[in-house]
Amino acid sequence: MFNTVRGMRDLLPIEAEKMRYIEQVSRELSKLYGYDEIITPVLESYDLLAAKTSEEIRERMYTFKDLGDRKVAMRPEFTASIARLISTKMRNEPKPMRFFSVGSLYRYDEPQYGRYREFWQSNYELFGSDRPEADAEILMLTNNLLERLELKNYLFKIGHTGILRGVLNQEGLDDEKQNSLRQLLDKKSWEEALEFALDTGVSQQCLGVLKSLLETKGEDVFNVLEGVKETVTKYEEAVCAVDNLWKIIELIKESGEKIELTVEAGFARGLEYYTGMIFEAYIPGLDIALGGGGRYDRLIEIFGGEPIPAVGVAQGIDRIALALTKQKVSTKLPKKKSIVVISVKEATMAKALELSSLLRKSGLLVEVAVMGRSISKALADANRRKIAYAVIIGPKELEQEKVVLREMKNSTQRTVLISKLTKEILKD
Ligand code: HAM
Repeated sequence: MFNTVRGMRDLLPIEAEKMRYIEQVSRELSKLYGYDEIITPVLESYDLLAAKTSEEIRERMYTFKDLGDRKVAMRPEFTASIARLISTKMRNEPKPMRFFSVGSLYRYDEPQYGRYREFWQSNYELFGSDRPEADAEILMLTNNLLERLELKNYLFKIGHTGILRGVLNQEGLDDEKQNSLRQLLDKKSWEEALEFALDTGVSQQCLGVLKSLLETKGEDVFNVLEGVKETVTKYEEAVCAVDNLWKIIELIKESGEKIELTVEAGFARGLEYYTGMIFEAYIPGLDIALGGGGRYDRLIEIFGGEPIPAVGVAQGIDRIALALTKQKVSTKLPKKKSIVVISVKEATMAKALELSSLLRKSGLLVEVAVMGRSISKALADANRRKIAYAVIIGPKELEQEKVVLREMKNSTQRTVLISKLTKEILKD
């Protein structure tokens, strides 16, 4: 007997329906915002996926050599693949470009609540604009998605990589050390992060600034930003980052969007490609991020294209499904009336298949009774599965171009002309 590989899951109908529901709402939203769907491969070159992600993700990729001796990996996220596509095939397309993707991703994480080795994201990327309204769009889109899904009590944590980067650049810390520091912050290992900074030999002033940044957060966003600006006043690049974040939040607030934002000055995301605003959506108490994203203006350039600014977000479909279940929010797609077509005799089976095709053409959901059961057993099964109608096809009725239409709910049945069958069902 075979089981699933550790960390891999079978999604049974109830779970699969939830996932597809979230996918559908995500896709509808992508259309409302003008994001065109693209499909990129699950398998990419290892080097592409490894560049500028994070040490943690690099270590946790499913990597292998294909039969042509190429080092490949299963994608741990969409952003690298989409940036590859932009830098190779779409470099000269008019800007902005907006792309939506949905699909499965792979990370060899330790399986636990809300953390899987195969998981799903709905991903939105906006290329070509370095302006704060592009950042605002990505944040508002994420807020709108969670709103449409009727999720409650979710909050946004927002920061800017330029704040820490501005401070550390001026202190002369190289990219590698900055990445290591960010990883520690991403894991919320504050003490370790400060010790690491101390070991790199940064100034006492810098240590003081870092400590203060790690302690600075709050929902009174402009007051918090005012404070952050004062803290980093001696670091020009960091001051610019605060101003940029200010502008983004101001745009969102002034647009009237209802969004719960907490500014966290020391907030870092694991991925190395971020250059600007970064954010995550989460539900307090449910200790996992539902989605996250930010600005990454240098990635396309690193992949060999023109520099093209970009900002994007990925929502974790599995985690949103968990949150919706916890909050008992319905995730059912509207169901159409379902019908079972039952043939009384073998001789009328071909007619049953023909009629089921005819009914489906009118958009009705039709199953054919394929178990060879007696009529009463087939009807009992239809009752158990809450099917609305049974169409019973027998030789006697067929002679007059008729069938029996049975309403399962109240066990009433009547004989109807085949030519009127669809109308009869649709009129109820
Ligand atoms: P990320 O923060 O690595 O960002 O992932 C985004 C979301 O995917 C997370 O917030 C979480 O909901 C979900 N997720 C990640 N890992 C797992 C896992 N092991 N199991 C279940 N869900 C998971 C990115 O992937 C970036 N590419 C987002 C982005 C797009 N930035 C710019 N554009």
